Amino acid sequence: MFIPKKIEIIEVGPRDGLQNEPVAIPTEKKKELIVRLAKLGFSRMETTAFVHPKWVPQMSDSDEIARFCNELGLTYIALTPNLKALERAIEAKVPQIAVFIGASSAFNKKNINKTTVESLDECEQLFNKAKEEGIFIRAYISMAFFCPYQGEVTFEEVKTVSDRFIRLGADEIDIGDTNGQANPKIVYERFSRLRDLYPDTSFVGHFHDTRKMALVNSFAAIQAGITKFDSSVGGLGGCPYSPGATGNVATEELVDMLSRMGSETGIKYEEIEKVSRFAKSLSSK
Ligand code: HMG
Ligand code: MG
Repeated sequence: MFIPKKIEIIEVGPRDGLQNEPVAIPTEKKKELIVRLAKLGFSRMETTAFVHPKWVPQMSDSDEIARFCNELGLTYIALTPNLKALERAIEAKVPQIAVFIGASSAFNKKNINKTTVESLDECEQLFNKAKEEGIFIRAYISMAFFCPYQGEVTFEEVKTVSDRFIRLGADEIDIGDTNGQANPKIVYERFSRLRDLYPDTSFVGHFHDTRKMALVNSFAAIQAGITKFDSSVGGLGGCPYSPGATGNVATEELVDMLSRMGSETGIKYEEIEKVSRFAKSLSSK
């Protein structure tokens, strides 16, 4: 069994955790969540998204959240689905961006109004511009296992997106089980194949917990050699364009499992547990 000494946990609660909340959460409460999480010692956090406020109203305070994260001196990630978003992120002096493209084109069209091929073409310019600015690029492949619109997603579809991301120079590739339908077998197989194909690439696991398999899927990814995971405090989250999906793997559960196995995350269970209660109090679900 592979038990890594260290695992990086990237907290995505302020972004993925809150983006699908139907009632507007006051910006001050979001800031409080970010401060409380920052004190726990995450090396990175995903805090906001430069998306269209009509598409995802909960992220409409992204400029203010970015300004606040800069004041705190955080290394944070903000979502940038298109060139307009990148321009906004550059203006806001965001240190790390996340591009997200669906391996399933049907999902991509619903989520960012473009086919996968159209998004891949647009992201060439986006990557070039971000690289010129010295911005770290996280590149998500969403619906990397199954898709609520298309059904099965093939490995070839995942490979098409990862090939392009890697050729364009992504700093890390984040594999998303956006609707939480994956199982440990497919997770182990897909991550193993990706690591064989791209031994120099840094991969991240991003598991939603719809079928209560996010923890075991994380464990399967570890067995394939993955040592970076996204998680959301309190298990909040979900994508508005991924019907039926629930939140991400809960940070406190991931921390608990890893620390019991002897993997160091730098985060203490008792402390994240307290912040989890606060995060859940922000959610109307
Ligand atoms: P669109 O309507 O196709 O945009 O939206 P457009 O290019 O046709 O432009 C229409 C208008 O929007 C124009 O304004 C643009 O300037 C403006 P007008 O000229 O009409 O006044 N516009 C923008 N305004 C603000 N910010 C922007 C922007 N872009 C254009 N960035 C767009 C395209 C991508 C913006 C839209 O589809 C969108 O915002 N989608 C966001 C979807 C989203 O956030 N989903 C959740 C995050 S993904 C996720 O959760 C999955 C993940 O967690 C991983 C996993 O779980 O697998 C990451
Ligand atoms: Mg997600």
